[in-house]
Amino acid sequence: MAYNLLKGKKGIIFGALDEKSIAWRTALRCHEEGAQLVLTNAPVALRMGEINKLAEAVNAPVVGADVTNMDDLKKLFEEATKHFGGKVDFILHSIGMSLNVRKNKHYTEIDYGFNQKTLDISAMSLHRVLRTAWEMDAISDWGSVVALTYIAAQRVFPDYNEMADAKALLEGVARNFGYHYGVKKKVRINTVSQSPTKTTAGSGVKGFDGFVSYAEKMSPLGNASADQCADYCVTLFSDLTKMVTMQNLFHDGGFSFTGVTQAVIEQMEK
Ligand code: NAI
Repeated sequence: MAYNLLKGKKGIIFGALDEKSIAWRTALRCHEEGAQLVLTNAPVALRMGEINKLAEAVNAPVVGADVTNMDDLKKLFEEATKHFGGKVDFILHSIGMSLNVRKNKHYTEIDYGFNQKTLDISAMSLHRVLRTAWEMDAISDWGSVVALTYIAAQRVFPDYNEMADAKALLEGVARNFGYHYGVKKKVRINTVSQSPTKTTAGSGVKGFDGFVSYAEKMSPLGNASADQCADYCVTLFSDLTKMVTMQNLFHDGGFSFTGVTQAVIEQMEK
C-alpha cells in the first residue's frame, strides 16, 4: 500500500546490484511513495546490466560512481541535481564490501592493505558522499541520509570479520557528520541496523544460513526482510521523522534487545 509519503521528494539510491539488494527494494518503495530517483553503483556492478531493469521500473537515470572516488561522486551530484532541477532530499547508502572476507583471510590474519580498502568502501564512503554533498550544498534543508549497518558493530559475530569494524566506523561517521550537517542545514543522518538478509553481500559471510536461522530464533518478531527494511527507510526519508538524527536504529524484529528466547532454550535442551 502506498501513502504518498515521498511525494515531490528527490533521492539518490546507492547500491542496487540485483533484485535481492536492499537498495533495489528501497528504490521500488520510494518510487511507489512518489519519489523521483537517481540510481548509482560502482562501474563494475553496472556492467552486470541488472540495474537497467530497476531503472526502467522506477523511471530513473543510472549514474556510475565508485564510492571511493571523489571525482565520480562530484559528477554524480552534478548529474543528479541537474536531472532533478534542484537539490537532493534523501540519500540511501547501501554499500558494503570486504576484501579480506573475499580472500578468506581470518580476522586474526587480515591483510592491512585490503583492510584499508574495506574501510574506505564500506564506511569512509559515507563521509566521502556527505562531504561531496556538503561542499556542493547539494542536499536540501531537512534532507535525510540513511546508511545500512549490522549489529556486529556492537557485539561480536566472529565470522563477520573486519566488516564488524567497518560497521562501527560507519556508525561513527553517521553520528559525527550528523552533528555538523544538522547544525548547518538541519540534514539528518541515521544508520539502520538490519537483520541478516539473503543478498549478495549478506551471503558472503561464512556460515550465513546458520546466522539467519539463529537470528530468526532469537527475534520475537522474526527476521526483518529487505522489503520491510525498505518500508522503514521510506519513513526515515519522509517528513514524519524530521527530528530523528545521529541514531543507530535497529530494524531486526527485536533481536538486539533479546537475551534468549524459548526457541533457543528448547534447542539447547535437546
Ligand atoms: P548487495 O550486495 O546487494 O549490495 C552491496 C552493494 O555495494 C552492491 O550494489 C555493490 O555494487 C556496492 N558496492 C561495492 N563496492 C562499491 C564501490 N566501490 N562503489 C559503489 N558501490 C559499491 O547486498 P545488501 O545486503 O543489499 O547490502 C547493502 C547494505 O546492507 C550493506 O551496507 C550491507 O552491509 C548492509 N547490511 C546487509 C545485511 C545482510 O544480511 N544482507 C544485514 C545488515 C546490513
